[in-house]
Amino acid sequence: MAKIGLFYATDTGNTRKIAKKIRKQFAEDEIELFDVAKTTPEAMLDCEALIIGMPTLGDGELPEPLAEFLGKVEASHLEGKPIALFGLGDQVGYPTEFVDALGITYKKLKKLGARFIGSWSAEGYEFEKSKALRDGEFVGLVLDQDNQADLTEDRLEEWLDLVKPELLGEAVAG
Ligand SMILES: Cc1cc2nc3c(=O)[nH]c(=O)nc-3n(C[C@H](O)[C@H](O)[C@H](O)COP(=O)(O)O)c2cc1C
Repeated sequence: MAKIGLFYATDTGNTRKIAKKIRKQFAEDEIELFDVAKTTPEAMLDCEALIIGMPTLGDGELPEPLAEFLGKVEASHLEGKPIALFGLGDQVGYPTEFVDALGITYKKLKKLGARFIGSWSAEGYEFEKSKALRDGEFVGLVLDQDNQADLTEDRLEEWLDLVKPELLGEAVAG
């Protein structure tokens, strides 16, 4: 049984590539990847921690398979688990809807009592509006493969350093 379940949606494959990069940073038995188009939220019951990744599509919308998946998530699927989110978007093409799907996902799961980790500074991105901002920070890691792919490795590494201990249940109090 994998400790961490990484659930992702993708349209053109970028988010799957990031999911695979994340998988490489853990031992094989520590993490399992799930495409939300091919699974149900029951799969979360076998996980002790969750990572959820998604692109924003349409005009600031969730990918359809993720919308369906989130519609079936219940509080019991999330209970007691740290949840780290990451979102992909295009700040140049969609400056007023930048990574909105990240914010929509956060809001839906927050209502079910989710405990989030891994918020991320909005410095270094240029956009006008985003539903993924809470108190000036993004609610999860933000990656822009369309315009800032060269920054992705460093951002990923820094964010994983931040969330890894808690995802693995190794965080020390105090
Ligand atoms: C039709 C379409 C609509 C998009 N809409 C948005 C958007 O509203 N906001 C945003 O930040 N990015 C938007 N993007 C950019 C994607 O989120 C970005 O290219 C992402 O890397 C795609 O990930 P994927 O390959 O996993 O589908 C859009 C891309 C496409 C093709």
